[in-house]
Amino acid sequence: MQEKQLLMIPGPTNVPNKVLHTLGAPAVGHRTPEFSQVIKEVTERLQAIYQTKHDLFILTSSGTGAMEAAVANFVNPGDKVIVMENGNFGERWVKLNMRYGADLEVISGVWGEQASPQALRERIEKDVQQEIKAVFVTHNETSTGVTNDIKALREALGDHPALFIVDAISGMAVSPLPVDEWQLDVVVSGSQKAFMIPPGLAFISVSPKAWAVSEQVTTPRFYFDLQAARKSYVKFTTPYTPSTSLILALRESLKMIEEEGLENIYRRHDFYKTLVRTAAKALGLELLTSEAAASSGVTAIKKPDNLDPQQITKIMREKHRVIIAGGQNKLKGQIFRIGHLGYIDVNDIIVTIAALERTLKELSWEFQLGQGVAAVQELLLKGEK
Ligand SMILES: Cc1ncc(COP(=O)(O)O)c(C=O)c1O
Repeated sequence: MQEKQLLMIPGPTNVPNKVLHTLGAPAVGHRTPEFSQVIKEVTERLQAIYQTKHDLFILTSSGTGAMEAAVANFVNPGDKVIVMENGNFGERWVKLNMRYGADLEVISGVWGEQASPQALRERIEKDVQQEIKAVFVTHNETSTGVTNDIKALREALGDHPALFIVDAISGMAVSPLPVDEWQLDVVVSGSQKAFMIPPGLAFISVSPKAWAVSEQVTTPRFYFDLQAARKSYVKFTTPYTPSTSLILALRESLKMIEEEGLENIYRRHDFYKTLVRTAAKALGLELLTSEAAASSGVTAIKKPDNLDPQQITKIMREKHRVIIAGGQNKLKGQIFRIGHLGYIDVNDIIVTIAALERTLKELSWEFQLGQGVAAVQELLLKGEK
């Protein structure tokens, strides 16, 4: 039984059995009419999740590949861009834009709090010459367990012509992000999060406004050239060999998502957030984020006094085979994180909280055994969903 483990990190997530079976299927040809039908079907299902009628492409890469595509296709060297940074993945936008030679301006926020729409609004109001070409934001900042208020951030941009580019890698299909309604120009996401398949695919949507900008962008790009992806998609194919097995697996997981329905999925994740936060508080632990800022996909818990979060994650993994995450970057050693997105149910949360209790007992943290689990059970009995 040693191989049995529970993944409670914010991606890669657990993979449903149906999807695992698909991954074991014989290889298929990627230039066949049958596979083109699969690409068409999967793309259309992804568009439904993105709530967009505009173009969307499947890239064979991890999420960062789609982030790179978002910079390489829409930013010229020397373009003024704003990055709203309030965590490790906001920093990734910073690094990418630096590498591509953008004239970068960073609006930094507190790690653990939401990015400030007010700060963005003030900066945009000052840009009377409309020099800013793009604003980069993070939907769900996985490193801190914060979901940024994308609607308010987009509203802060108003009718300024800059592109609005969103990293929704860990937030898509976890909490609402209606791409067309909110006028989001470029939105990236990744397969190993709420899409419930292994790492290796990334998705990127492109608005007509973003296409118009890309015509003027001369930044060198090849593998991630979205014009090439668009040309291929006319024939429902991809410019280069895609991960056929992951795309077939995705078809299965997208059917599951469609059966459950997006609203139910958002509600379910929101409920997991409540369960985990309530349990943590019942164990005397402190949360990094406020209720209003808290992510539905991952909860960050502050390091309990005198305890080392690395010890907690190690005991959880080695003794209880529950994999949770530590802090990243400047939050390393300060927090640990419980992921609750994708193929997760309430039983998984009960097991995780029970394992956390045994871990904390081993580390002599003072609380009454069972308190966290009881808090979860009470919410479940109330049926608060
Ligand atoms: C918000 C966010 N952005 C970007 C990434 C990077 O994605 P990948 O590791 O798939 O390249 C992650 C991965 O955890 C993420 O959660």
